[in-house]
Amino acid sequence: MTGPRTPASTPATPDAQWWRQAVVYQVYPRSFADSNGDGLGDVAGITSRVPYLAELGVDAIWLSPFFPSPLADGGYDVADYRDVDPRLGTLDDVDELIAAAHAHDIRVIVDVVPNHTSDEHEWFRAALAAGPGSPERARYVFREGAGVDGELPPSDWVANFGGSAWTRVPDGQWYLHLFAPEQPDLDWTNPEVHADFEHTLRFWSDRGVDGFRVDVAHGLAKDLLEPYRPSNEQALPLDGSDPLYDRDEVHEIFEGWRRVLDEYDPPRAAIAEAWAPAPRRVLYARPTELGQAFNFDLLEAPFDPTAFRTIIERNLAMSEESGASSTWVLSNHDVVRHATRYGLPDDTDTDAWLMTDGFTPPLDRDHGLHRARAASLLLFALPGSTYTYQGEELGLHEAAAIPRELLQDPKWIRSGHTVKGRDGCRVPIPWTVDGPSFGFGDVPPQLPQPEDFGASSVEALADDPTSTLSLYRAAFATRRQLQRGEHLTWLDTPEHVVGFARHDGWRSYTNFGTSPVALPDGDVLLASGPLTDGMLPGETTVWVG
Ligand code: GLC
Ligand code: CA
Repeated sequence: MTGPRTPASTPATPDAQWWRQAVVYQVYPRSFADSNGDGLGDVAGITSRVPYLAELGVDAIWLSPFFPSPLADGGYDVADYRDVDPRLGTLDDVDELIAAAHAHDIRVIVDVVPNHTSDEHEWFRAALAAGPGSPERARYVFREGAGVDGELPPSDWVANFGGSAWTRVPDGQWYLHLFAPEQPDLDWTNPEVHADFEHTLRFWSDRGVDGFRVDVAHGLAKDLLEPYRPSNEQALPLDGSDPLYDRDEVHEIFEGWRRVLDEYDPPRAAIAEAWAPAPRRVLYARPTELGQAFNFDLLEAPFDPTAFRTIIERNLAMSEESGASSTWVLSNHDVVRHATRYGLPDDTDTDAWLMTDGFTPPLDRDHGLHRARAASLLLFALPGSTYTYQGEELGLHEAAAIPRELLQDPKWIRSGHTVKGRDGCRVPIPWTVDGPSFGFGDVPPQLPQPEDFGASSVEALADDPTSTLSLYRAAFATRRQLQRGEHLTWLDTPEHVVGFARHDGWRSYTNFGTSPVALPDGDVLLASGPLTDGMLPGETTVWVG
């Protein structure tokens, strides 16, 4: 950008603790709204929809990466952390978005991706050019290979999207990448890496950004001492002894970040994406570190009362211990949408189901959405902050029928076309009933939408009091009005019912069973589905006060 930096804007009402019980709406920028008709969502598109988000009643938006990126992994391969992808806009556009959000008292969270850069980041290009042993290579993890001539990868570590976690460069060295080869891992023992990320945190904080979502926070510290030990990402140990994930040293990094975030008034918030075992996950959320960590337990749980209750109890206890508030999430850009998950038999392997082009049975769409509404309304009554992924307020299902030649997810490519990947939850949002992209833009989007998407559009749902959009709006408004304190009290309930009181004026009951139970006493504030004959029907949540 040229010219003077726009002064940072601030939200309408100052509140340093805004994040503790916020409703955070996740925007996946390329699929939200396309302002210039090139089929790709962009920053100005998001700005144009801020009034919609304000009406929905969210407290903050989290923007998945909008930085320059060759898009090897949907933007999680960042070529420049302090700029905007020209296809998505400019820094001025981001300033405008922040100002528009703040004018509606909506906070802005941006995504930081510290585990790896893009292979097109200037650092990685310099590393390739400079050769073995150079300071440029020392920002990444370059090693000699195994075998007689170094022709084998240094270890048998496997990358998240499949294949070896090492890729060889023409001069014979190998570099480490926990994700795609286009995402080389940074070496966080290098002080230059620390300094650069602190620069990035200040860069966005100076522009008025209120918080950061930290990608793969549990991956930054690695044990690279030989002999390389095997990693077990699926079942990480509780003592931090895995060589690649959730090691104790990672916490020193985030203590450093906290010092930077606390330079601001109010201090900038941060949330860790740390797929660590629950008791260790909360360590990232300590007030001396990021402050919050995603809790993906419910996102991974079946629609089951015991699972929900156990998970809620455990997470509330753990967050109290860590001094953070809990976080709750059912859907994001990495998983099959929850309306779809709940419409499939419980033991469905969703990867395998997607490969069948899953628009055929056994998916029961109405049933899935009915349960999703019940689960979401339960979630919104919980103490802590809640994350809503764009489109779940429209009751969207996974778009399972994307033609294979149009799939973009590196999981699809790296798995040798055996895992379909995450594109099905990333298709553009339907805003209108008709039009070439249902109001997303003026032309068909780069990732095609299902033909029946118009029926789930904002336009179709906005004035229907029974729609999922109306339910979300009412839930967020009611929550905002009633929410105080960060506690809940479990209530005595019939089997299959999970009931708790936030306080006398606000109780939530979810009937996970299939037969109706008596409606609890009190005035009905909101229900996830129709109530009949004074009963709480199966798979329905009701709030009473
Ligand atoms: C996180 C992101 C995911 C991305 C990965 C690598 O898990 O949520 O979308 O592919 O990190 O950056
Ligand atoms: Ca565009």
